[in-house]
Amino acid sequence: MHIGCPKEIKPQEFRVGMTPNAAHEAILAGHTVTIETNAGAGAGFTDEDYIAVGAKIVGTAKEVFDTADMIVKVKEPQAGERKMLREGQLLFTYLHLAPDPEQTKDLLASGCTAIAYETVTDDRGGLPLLAPMSEVAGRLAPQVGSWTLQKANGGRGVLMGGVPGVGPAKVVVIGGGVVGTHAAKIAAGMGADVTVLDRSLPRLRYLDDVFGGTFKTSYASAGNTIELARQADMIIGAVLIPGAAAPKLIKRDQLSELKPGAVLVDVAIDQGGCFETSRATTHQDPIYDVDGIMHYCVANMPGAVARTSTIALGNATMPFMMALANKGWKQACADDKHLLNGLNVHAGQLTYYAVGEALGIDVLSPQLAIK
Ligand SMILES: NC(=O)c1ccc[n+]([C@@H]2O[C@H](COP(=O)([O-])OP(=O)(O)OC[C@H]3O[C@@H](n4cnc5c(N)ncnc54)[C@H](O)[C@@H]3O)[C@@H](O)[C@H]2O)c1
Repeated sequence: MHIGCPKEIKPQEFRVGMTPNAAHEAILAGHTVTIETNAGAGAGFTDEDYIAVGAKIVGTAKEVFDTADMIVKVKEPQAGERKMLREGQLLFTYLHLAPDPEQTKDLLASGCTAIAYETVTDDRGGLPLLAPMSEVAGRLAPQVGSWTLQKANGGRGVLMGGVPGVGPAKVVVIGGGVVGTHAAKIAAGMGADVTVLDRSLPRLRYLDDVFGGTFKTSYASAGNTIELARQADMIIGAVLIPGAAAPKLIKRDQLSELKPGAVLVDVAIDQGGCFETSRATTHQDPIYDVDGIMHYCVANMPGAVARTSTIALGNATMPFMMALANKGWKQACADDKHLLNGLNVHAGQLTYYAVGEALGIDVLSPQLAIK
Protein backbone atom coordinates (compact mmCIF):
# COMPACT_ATOMS: atom_id res chain seq x y z
CA MET A 1 0.00 0.00 0.00
CA HIS A 2 1.08 3.56 -0.61
CA ILE A 3 0.85 5.43 2.73
CA GLY A 4 0.98 9.24 2.81
CA CYS A 5 1.48 11.63 5.70
CA PRO A 6 0.95 15.38 5.17
CA LYS A 7 2.13 18.17 7.49
CA GLU A 8 -0.56 19.18 9.99
CA ILE A 9 -2.03 22.59 9.16
CA LYS A 10 -4.45 23.17 12.05
CA PRO A 11 -3.18 26.18 14.06
CA GLN A 12 -0.92 25.25 17.00
CA GLU A 13 -0.69 21.60 15.92
CA PHE A 14 2.93 20.41 16.01
CA ARG A 15 2.38 16.66 16.07
CA VAL A 16 2.74 14.46 12.97
CA GLY A 17 0.76 11.36 11.97
CA MET A 18 3.75 9.09 11.23
CA THR A 19 7.02 8.95 13.14
CA PRO A 20 10.16 7.78 11.30
CA ASN A 21 9.74 4.53 13.29
CA ALA A 22 6.21 4.04 11.94
CA ALA A 23 7.43 4.80 8.40
CA HIS A 24 10.27 2.30 8.86
CA GLU A 25 7.89 -0.40 10.08
CA ALA A 26 5.63 0.11 7.04
CA ILE A 27 8.56 0.10 4.60
CA LEU A 28 9.96 -3.11 6.15
CA ALA A 29 6.58 -4.73 5.46
CA GLY A 30 6.85 -3.76 1.77
CA HIS A 31 4.74 -0.59 1.71
CA THR A 32 5.65 2.77 0.19
CA VAL A 33 5.66 5.86 2.42
CA THR A 34 5.46 9.49 1.25
CA ILE A 35 5.89 12.33 3.75
CA GLU A 36 5.36 16.05 3.11
CA THR A 37 8.54 18.05 3.65
CA ASN A 38 8.91 19.35 7.23
CA ALA A 39 5.88 17.31 8.38
CA GLY A 40 7.81 16.09 11.43
CA ALA A 41 9.64 19.34 12.22
CA GLY A 42 7.35 20.40 15.07
CA ALA A 43 7.95 17.07 16.78
CA GLY A 44 11.71 17.18 16.20
CA PHE A 45 11.87 14.81 13.20
CA THR A 46 13.78 16.01 10.12
CA ASP A 47 13.19 15.03 6.49
CA GLU A 48 16.53 13.20 6.69
CA ASP A 49 15.17 11.02 9.54
CA TYR A 50 12.42 9.83 7.18
CA ILE A 51 14.73 9.49 4.17
CA ALA A 52 17.09 7.35 6.29
CA VAL A 53 14.37 4.71 6.73
CA GLY A 54 13.42 4.73 3.05
CA ALA A 55 10.50 7.18 2.93
CA LYS A 56 10.05 9.62 0.06
CA ILE A 57 9.78 13.35 0.83
CA VAL A 58 7.56 15.54 -1.38
CA GLY A 59 7.14 19.32 -1.42
CA THR A 60 3.37 19.70 -1.04
CA ALA A 61 0.37 18.13 0.68
CA LYS A 62 -1.24 17.78 -2.77
CA GLU A 63 1.46 15.36 -3.88
CA VAL A 64 0.80 13.27 -0.74
CA PHE A 65 -2.98 13.24 -1.26
CA ASP A 66 -2.69 12.59 -5.01
CA THR A 67 -0.55 9.48 -4.64
CA ALA A 68 -1.43 7.79 -1.34
CA ASP A 69 -3.94 4.96 -0.87
CA MET A 70 -4.05 5.72 2.87
CA ILE A 71 -3.58 9.12 4.52
CA VAL A 72 -2.34 8.99 8.14
CA LYS A 73 -2.74 12.23 10.13
CA VAL A 74 -3.32 13.57 13.62
CA LYS A 75 -6.07 16.20 13.41
CA GLU A 76 -9.30 16.13 11.43
CA PRO A 77 -8.72 17.18 7.80
CA GLN A 78 -9.14 20.93 7.36
CA ALA A 79 -11.36 22.31 4.56
CA GLY A 80 -8.51 22.49 2.02
CA GLU A 81 -7.35 18.97 2.85
CA ARG A 82 -10.88 17.60 2.52
CA LYS A 83 -11.01 18.85 -1.08
CA MET A 84 -7.96 16.70 -1.85
CA LEU A 85 -9.49 13.44 -0.54
CA ARG A 86 -10.82 11.17 -3.26
CA GLU A 87 -13.16 8.25 -3.71
CA GLY A 88 -11.77 5.00 -2.37
CA GLN A 89 -8.97 6.69 -0.41
CA LEU A 90 -8.52 5.62 3.21
CA LEU A 91 -8.17 8.28 5.95
CA PHE A 92 -6.86 7.30 9.40
CA THR A 93 -6.85 10.17 11.94
CA TYR A 94 -8.79 11.89 14.76
CA LEU A 95 -12.12 13.11 13.32
CA HIS A 96 -14.58 14.06 16.13
CA LEU A 97 -17.44 14.27 13.61
CA ALA A 98 -20.43 14.57 16.00
CA PRO A 99 -20.06 18.33 16.60
CA ASP A 100 -18.74 19.03 13.07
CA PRO A 101 -21.44 18.89 10.33
CA GLU A 102 -19.25 20.76 7.80
CA GLN A 103 -16.46 18.21 7.99
CA THR A 104 -18.94 15.33 7.91
CA LYS A 105 -20.58 16.72 4.76
CA ASP A 106 -17.21 17.07 3.01
CA LEU A 107 -16.02 13.59 3.99
CA LEU A 108 -19.27 12.07 2.73
CA ALA A 109 -18.97 14.03 -0.54
CA SER A 110 -15.35 12.92 -1.06
CA GLY A 111 -16.28 9.21 -1.23
CA CYS A 112 -13.35 8.33 1.04
CA THR A 113 -13.31 5.71 3.80
CA ALA A 114 -12.50 7.31 7.16
CA ILE A 115 -11.46 5.51 10.34
CA ALA A 116 -11.47 7.77 13.42
CA TYR A 117 -8.85 7.26 16.14
CA GLU A 118 -11.25 8.36 18.88
CA THR A 119 -13.82 5.61 18.32
CA VAL A 120 -11.42 2.63 18.04
CA THR A 121 -11.97 0.48 21.16
CA ASP A 122 -10.18 -2.23 23.14
CA ASP A 123 -11.15 -5.36 25.07
CA ARG A 124 -11.33 -3.52 28.40
CA GLY A 125 -13.89 -0.98 27.19
CA GLY A 126 -11.19 1.67 26.76
CA LEU A 127 -10.27 3.94 23.86
CA PRO A 128 -6.68 2.95 23.03
CA LEU A 129 -6.01 5.83 20.62
CA LEU A 130 -7.28 8.47 23.08
CA ALA A 131 -5.54 7.00 26.14
CA PRO A 132 -1.99 8.11 25.20
CA MET A 133 -3.12 11.76 25.02
CA SER A 134 -4.86 11.43 28.40
CA GLU A 135 -1.63 9.98 29.80
CA VAL A 136 0.30 12.98 28.45
CA ALA A 137 -2.23 15.57 29.71
CA GLY A 138 -2.38 13.86 33.11
CA ARG A 139 1.39 13.83 33.54
CA LEU A 140 1.63 17.42 32.33
CA ALA A 141 -1.04 18.73 34.74
CA PRO A 142 1.07 18.82 37.94
CA GLN A 143 4.00 20.22 35.92
CA VAL A 144 2.00 23.21 34.62
CA GLY A 145 0.15 23.49 37.92
CA SER A 146 3.40 23.73 39.89
CA TRP A 147 4.62 26.49 37.57
CA THR A 148 1.32 28.34 38.10
CA LEU A 149 1.70 27.91 41.87
CA GLN A 150 4.84 30.07 41.74
CA LYS A 151 4.33 33.55 43.16
CA ALA A 152 5.33 35.42 39.98
CA ASN A 153 2.62 33.54 38.08
CA GLY A 154 -0.12 34.46 40.56
CA GLY A 155 -0.01 31.28 42.64
CA ARG A 156 0.36 30.73 46.39
CA GLY A 157 4.13 30.46 46.21
CA VAL A 158 4.16 26.87 47.43
CA LEU A 159 6.77 24.29 46.40
CA MET A 160 5.29 20.89 45.46
CA GLY A 161 7.66 18.83 47.58
CA GLY A 162 8.21 21.36 50.38
CA VAL A 163 11.68 21.16 52.00
CA PRO A 164 12.88 19.59 55.25
CA GLY A 165 10.90 21.35 57.95
CA VAL A 166 8.24 22.70 55.56
CA GLY A 167 5.30 20.54 54.44
CA PRO A 168 4.56 19.71 50.79
CA ALA A 169 1.80 21.18 48.59
CA LYS A 170 -1.63 19.61 48.95
CA VAL A 171 -2.93 18.40 45.57
CA VAL A 172 -6.48 17.16 44.99
CA VAL A 173 -7.26 15.29 41.77
CA ILE A 174 -10.96 15.00 40.89
CA GLY A 175 -11.53 11.97 38.66
CA GLY A 176 -9.26 8.94 38.95
CA GLY A 177 -9.34 7.68 35.35
CA VAL A 178 -6.42 7.81 32.91
CA VAL A 179 -5.74 11.57 33.30
CA GLY A 180 -6.27 11.56 37.07
CA THR A 181 -4.10 8.53 37.77
CA HIS A 182 -1.18 9.88 35.76
CA ALA A 183 -1.57 13.33 37.34
CA ALA A 184 -1.60 11.83 40.84
CA LYS A 185 1.49 9.69 40.15
CA ILE A 186 3.51 12.67 38.94
CA ALA A 187 2.29 15.02 41.71
CA ALA A 188 3.20 12.38 44.30
CA GLY A 189 6.55 11.91 42.57
CA MET A 190 7.20 15.64 42.97
CA GLY A 191 6.70 15.14 46.69
CA ALA A 192 3.18 16.58 47.03
CA ASP A 193 0.52 15.28 49.40
CA VAL A 194 -2.05 13.91 46.92
CA THR A 195 -5.68 12.78 47.24
CA VAL A 196 -7.70 11.38 44.30
CA LEU A 197 -11.50 11.67 44.31
CA ASP A 198 -13.74 9.49 42.15
CA ARG A 199 -17.38 8.40 42.11
CA SER A 200 -16.60 4.86 40.98
CA LEU A 201 -15.95 2.52 43.91
CA PRO A 202 -14.33 -0.16 41.69
CA ARG A 203 -11.94 2.53 40.43
CA LEU A 204 -11.18 3.73 43.98
CA ARG A 205 -10.53 0.10 45.01
CA TYR A 206 -8.14 -0.36 42.09
CA LEU A 207 -6.31 2.90 42.88
CA ASP A 208 -6.03 1.99 46.55
CA ASP A 209 -4.71 -1.50 45.75
CA VAL A 210 -2.12 -0.27 43.26
CA PHE A 211 -1.17 3.18 44.59
CA GLY A 212 -2.21 2.95 48.27
CA GLY A 213 1.26 3.94 49.47
CA THR A 214 1.65 6.75 46.94
CA PHE A 215 -1.57 8.77 47.26
CA LYS A 216 -4.85 8.73 49.16
CA THR A 217 -8.32 8.17 47.72
CA SER A 218 -11.69 9.63 48.66
CA TYR A 219 -15.25 9.23 47.43
CA ALA A 220 -16.26 12.26 45.33
CA SER A 221 -19.36 13.38 47.24
CA ALA A 222 -20.05 17.12 47.08
CA GLY A 223 -19.15 17.39 50.78
CA ASN A 224 -15.80 15.55 50.49
CA THR A 225 -14.93 17.52 47.35
CA ILE A 226 -15.33 20.97 48.90
CA GLU A 227 -13.73 19.91 52.19
CA LEU A 228 -10.58 18.70 50.40
CA ALA A 229 -10.68 21.68 48.01
CA ARG A 230 -10.58 24.12 50.95
CA GLN A 231 -7.24 22.67 52.07
CA ALA A 232 -5.73 22.32 48.57
CA ASP A 233 -2.93 24.30 46.96
CA MET A 234 -3.74 22.71 43.58
CA ILE A 235 -6.90 21.04 42.27
CA ILE A 236 -6.72 19.04 39.05
CA GLY A 237 -10.03 18.45 37.24
CA ALA A 238 -9.95 15.10 35.40
CA VAL A 239 -13.54 13.83 35.31
CA LEU A 240 -15.28 12.37 32.30
CA ILE A 241 -18.87 11.29 31.81
CA PRO A 242 -18.70 9.76 28.31
CA GLY A 243 -20.80 11.62 25.78
CA ALA A 244 -21.79 14.38 28.25
CA ALA A 245 -20.52 17.80 29.25
CA ALA A 246 -18.31 17.72 32.36
CA PRO A 247 -20.23 18.29 35.63
CA LYS A 248 -19.36 21.58 37.41
CA LEU A 249 -17.81 20.35 40.64
CA ILE A 250 -16.57 23.68 42.05
CA LYS A 251 -19.00 26.57 41.66
CA ARG A 252 -18.09 30.21 41.32
CA ASP A 253 -19.38 31.10 44.80
CA GLN A 254 -17.16 28.36 46.29
CA LEU A 255 -13.95 30.02 45.06
CA SER A 256 -13.99 32.26 48.15
CA GLU A 257 -13.68 29.11 50.29
CA LEU A 258 -10.39 28.10 48.59
CA LYS A 259 -6.94 29.26 49.71
CA PRO A 260 -5.94 32.56 48.02
CA GLY A 261 -3.58 31.80 45.12
CA ALA A 262 -4.71 28.16 44.87
CA VAL A 263 -4.41 26.73 41.34
CA LEU A 264 -7.15 24.98 39.35
CA VAL A 265 -5.89 22.89 36.42
CA ASP A 266 -8.97 21.92 34.40
CA VAL A 267 -7.90 19.10 32.11
CA ALA A 268 -11.58 18.33 31.41
CA ILE A 269 -11.91 21.70 29.67
CA ASP A 270 -12.27 19.93 26.31
CA GLN A 271 -15.62 18.64 27.63
CA GLY A 272 -16.63 22.08 28.91
CA GLY A 273 -14.57 22.00 32.12
CA CYS A 274 -15.43 20.77 35.63
CA PHE A 275 -15.06 24.13 37.42
CA GLU A 276 -17.79 26.70 36.82
CA THR A 277 -15.24 29.48 36.22
CA SER A 278 -13.22 27.54 33.62
CA ARG A 279 -12.89 28.81 30.05
CA ALA A 280 -10.60 27.35 27.41
CA THR A 281 -7.16 28.94 27.12
CA THR A 282 -4.19 28.46 24.78
CA HIS A 283 -0.50 27.64 25.22
CA GLN A 284 0.25 31.29 24.39
CA ASP A 285 -1.89 32.61 27.25
CA PRO A 286 -2.60 29.59 29.45
CA ILE A 287 -3.60 31.02 32.86
CA TYR A 288 -6.02 33.58 34.27
CA ASP A 289 -7.23 34.74 37.67
CA VAL A 290 -10.79 34.65 39.03
CA ASP A 291 -11.18 36.07 42.54
CA GLY A 292 -7.53 35.35 43.36
CA ILE A 293 -7.74 31.70 42.21
CA MET A 294 -5.46 30.85 39.27
CA HIS A 295 -6.95 28.81 36.42
CA TYR A 296 -5.03 26.78 33.79
CA CYS A 297 -7.47 25.51 31.13
CA VAL A 298 -5.56 24.64 27.94
CA ALA A 299 -7.78 22.48 25.74
CA ASN A 300 -4.96 20.77 23.80
CA MET A 301 -2.40 20.15 26.53
CA PRO A 302 -0.51 17.39 24.64
CA GLY A 303 0.49 20.00 22.03
CA ALA A 304 2.90 21.49 24.59
CA VAL A 305 5.02 18.35 24.39
CA ALA A 306 4.55 17.58 20.71
CA ARG A 307 7.48 15.18 20.49
CA THR A 308 6.41 12.98 23.41
CA SER A 309 2.79 13.14 22.22
CA THR A 310 3.68 12.22 18.63
CA ILE A 311 5.73 9.21 19.70
CA ALA A 312 3.06 8.09 22.22
CA LEU A 313 0.30 8.41 19.61
CA GLY A 314 2.47 6.67 16.99
CA ASN A 315 3.05 3.70 19.32
CA ALA A 316 -0.71 3.33 19.73
CA THR A 317 -1.73 3.84 16.08
CA MET A 318 1.06 1.76 14.50
CA PRO A 319 -0.47 -1.74 14.95
CA PHE A 320 -3.78 -0.54 13.49
CA MET A 321 -2.05 1.30 10.64
CA MET A 322 -0.05 -1.84 9.84
CA ALA A 323 -3.19 -4.01 9.86
CA LEU A 324 -4.91 -1.57 7.48
CA ALA A 325 -1.90 -1.52 5.16
CA ASN A 326 -1.18 -5.26 5.26
CA LYS A 327 -4.73 -6.55 4.88
CA GLY A 328 -6.65 -3.66 3.32
CA TRP A 329 -9.25 -1.88 5.43
CA LYS A 330 -12.13 -4.28 4.81
CA GLN A 331 -10.25 -7.39 5.91
CA ALA A 332 -8.52 -5.56 8.78
CA CYS A 333 -11.92 -4.36 10.10
CA ALA A 334 -13.50 -7.78 9.55
CA ASP A 335 -10.72 -9.37 11.63
CA ASP A 336 -10.84 -6.78 14.46
CA LYS A 337 -14.15 -5.53 15.84
CA HIS A 338 -12.31 -2.78 17.71
CA LEU A 339 -10.89 -1.35 14.50
CA LEU A 340 -14.33 -1.71 12.88
CA ASN A 341 -15.65 0.52 15.69
CA GLY A 342 -13.37 3.20 14.26
CA LEU A 343 -15.15 3.18 10.88
CA ASN A 344 -17.08 6.47 10.65
CA VAL A 345 -17.49 7.08 6.91
CA HIS A 346 -17.51 4.85 3.83
CA ALA A 347 -18.29 5.72 0.20
CA GLY A 348 -20.62 8.61 0.92
CA GLN A 349 -22.34 7.06 3.94
CA LEU A 350 -21.94 7.49 7.68
CA THR A 351 -21.12 4.23 9.46
CA TYR A 352 -21.06 5.35 13.10
CA TYR A 353 -24.41 5.46 14.92
CA ALA A 354 -23.64 8.14 17.54
CA VAL A 355 -22.48 10.56 14.84
CA GLY A 356 -25.58 9.85 12.74
CA GLU A 357 -27.79 10.49 15.76
CA ALA A 358 -25.99 13.73 16.62
CA LEU A 359 -26.23 15.06 13.05
CA GLY A 360 -29.58 13.55 12.02
CA ILE A 361 -28.04 11.55 9.14
CA ASP A 362 -28.93 7.93 8.23
CA VAL A 363 -26.24 5.40 9.04
CA LEU A 364 -25.07 2.35 7.09
CA SER A 365 -24.23 -0.52 9.46
CA PRO A 366 -20.42 -0.90 9.59
CA GLN A 367 -20.88 -4.67 9.23
CA LEU A 368 -22.65 -4.06 5.90
CA ALA A 369 -19.98 -1.56 4.82
CA ILE A 370 -17.25 -4.22 4.99
CA LYS A 371 -19.27 -6.78 3.04
N1 LIG B 1 -7.12 19.28 28.03
C1 LIG B 1 -6.54 18.33 27.33
O1 LIG B 1 -5.61 18.57 26.58
C2 LIG B 1 -6.99 16.92 27.49
C3 LIG B 1 -6.20 15.85 27.02
C4 LIG B 1 -6.63 14.53 27.24
C5 LIG B 1 -7.85 14.30 27.90
N2 LIG B 1 -8.62 15.38 28.32
C6 LIG B 1 -9.89 15.21 29.04
O2 LIG B 1 -9.66 14.80 30.37
C7 LIG B 1 -10.87 14.23 30.88
C8 LIG B 1 -10.56 12.92 31.58
O3 LIG B 1 -10.16 11.95 30.61
P1 LIG B 1 -9.76 10.45 31.02
O4 LIG B 1 -9.15 9.84 29.82
O5 LIG B 1 -9.02 10.43 32.29
O6 LIG B 1 -11.22 9.80 31.26
P2 LIG B 1 -11.51 8.47 32.08
O7 LIG B 1 -12.82 7.97 31.60
O8 LIG B 1 -10.33 7.54 32.06
O9 LIG B 1 -11.65 8.98 33.61
C9 LIG B 1 -12.69 9.80 34.05
C10 LIG B 1 -12.95 9.48 35.52
O10 LIG B 1 -13.87 10.47 36.02
C11 LIG B 1 -14.67 9.83 36.98
N3 LIG B 1 -15.85 10.65 37.25
C12 LIG B 1 -16.95 10.86 36.50
N4 LIG B 1 -17.77 11.73 37.11
C13 LIG B 1 -17.18 12.09 38.27
C14 LIG B 1 -17.53 12.97 39.34
N5 LIG B 1 -18.70 13.63 39.33
N6 LIG B 1 -16.67 13.12 40.36
C15 LIG B 1 -15.51 12.42 40.39
N7 LIG B 1 -15.12 11.57 39.42
C16 LIG B 1 -15.95 11.41 38.37
C17 LIG B 1 -14.96 8.47 36.35
O11 LIG B 1 -15.41 7.51 37.32
C18 LIG B 1 -13.60 8.12 35.76
O12 LIG B 1 -12.81 7.34 36.66
C19 LIG B 1 -11.79 14.07 29.65
O13 LIG B 1 -12.70 15.16 29.63
C20 LIG B 1 -10.83 14.18 28.49
O14 LIG B 1 -11.47 14.61 27.31
C21 LIG B 1 -8.20 16.65 28.11
